[in-house]
Amino acid sequence: MARPAPPAAPPPRLLATRLLVKILKRGLPFDRALLHEHANPFVHELLYGVLRHYFSLSERVSRHLQKPLRNKDFDLFCLLMTGALQILHLRTPAHAAVNESVDIARRLGKPWTDKLINAVLRTVAKDTFEGQGIEAAFDHPKWLIEQAQAQYPHHWHDLLLANLTKAPMCLRVNATKTTREAVLETLQRNGSPAVPGALPSCIILEAPMPSEQIPGIASGELSIQDQGAQLAARLLNASSGMRVLDACAAPGNKTAHLLEHTPGIALTSVDQSESRLQRIKTECHRLGLPTPEIICARFEQLAWWDGRPFDAVLLDVPCSGTGTLRRHPDIKVLAKADDLQAHHQSQKRLLDAAWRTLKPGGKLLYSTCSMLKRENEDSVQALRTRSDAAVLDMPQIKACGLVSIETQSGVQLVTTPQGPDAMFYALFGKRA
Ligand SMILES: C[S@@+](CC[C@H](N)C(=O)[O-])C[C@H]1O[C@@H](n2cnc3c(N)ncnc32)[C@H](O)[C@@H]1O
Repeated sequence: MARPAPPAAPPPRLLATRLLVKILKRGLPFDRALLHEHANPFVHELLYGVLRHYFSLSERVSRHLQKPLRNKDFDLFCLLMTGALQILHLRTPAHAAVNESVDIARRLGKPWTDKLINAVLRTVAKDTFEGQGIEAAFDHPKWLIEQAQAQYPHHWHDLLLANLTKAPMCLRVNATKTTREAVLETLQRNGSPAVPGALPSCIILEAPMPSEQIPGIASGELSIQDQGAQLAARLLNASSGMRVLDACAAPGNKTAHLLEHTPGIALTSVDQSESRLQRIKTECHRLGLPTPEIICARFEQLAWWDGRPFDAVLLDVPCSGTGTLRRHPDIKVLAKADDLQAHHQSQKRLLDAAWRTLKPGGKLLYSTCSMLKRENEDSVQALRTRSDAAVLDMPQIKACGLVSIETQSGVQLVTTPQGPDAMFYALFGKRA
């Protein structure tokens, strides 16, 4: 018997509108909202675009509504932001954006909105947006703008604007299987040219493409990983035979890189998320790497630890993710200033426990993907002042030429258009 045909995919603008409602109204993170959805590249472009420019688009649309929309018409508000995005950032002619939006509104069961859509989008197209608020001017929430102004008095403007650019697609070469030169040649032959990144393991694709189309992903020669994150294994710089701990390891991007970078380490990967830990096994299998010892536990309780100290520890703590706003623009809308204190407290607890597992003479690398001092310098401050801890230099960061700022204890990477996510690293040695 013939199978029934699968249901037709919804038009991209309709799917994008529905997904925006899930993210903006129900607070679902981008990745979870997209789970099980067949979102094509245009849906991604609409979603990323609206989230990236959420503060200006929402102010611009709201300005031209004669009265605020009812709660139950939030989908219409998302549709209007999607239309405004197309006109203001994707060079769609206003009449085309209006027609498409009117069509989607009908599919949403709101045929009464034709005139409203027409009026709002056509005035958005002509408006010069004088007198817009600071959130709309920089497309970031006020609390984050204020933190950036206080922390980076000379650069905050450029740093925030860099978050509005598209992140480059960075690949990590699996040094246990191939070389960067061989991969660059294959990509060139395949018609997907790429250039070497700042680190020896890194390649940057000239044009992003779906991961399943990149030669070398299925065969385990390549992984997708930002170049800032690729610094971790180089900075920890373990040696073969060492006992190494990856303290917050899942889903295992840095775990895999540690194994590629230094074959022969005895690696233990701990995380509290069982489902995310599963991905470490899958990744090691894909990359042809030995599976590390995997432990599911709340790290700071140390109930999982047999008391044998480690030679090197990587602590990649949970954080606000504000260093990755190019890739995760939903964070700008979903994260709140109050979250920082909770992250800070948990980071200090994790760091305290990680230090206890480290051998005298060993080293610990603390990392976050945050651009905020509260989660970086402030969280490592207590360790920096301990008598058995020494702040170690990380000359590899200067040597690779990525833009960065030195802090008292570590280095803050800075996002630039082709540069890395704004990760923070601090390396400590334990005095014998
Ligand atoms: C930034 S992510 C780690 C990313 C990982 N290092 C990588 O490169 O793929 C932080 C991780 O910390 C884990 N985590 C958060 N709190 C934890 C805790 N108390 N104990 C153990 N793991 C924790 C989360 O489940 C999450 O997987």
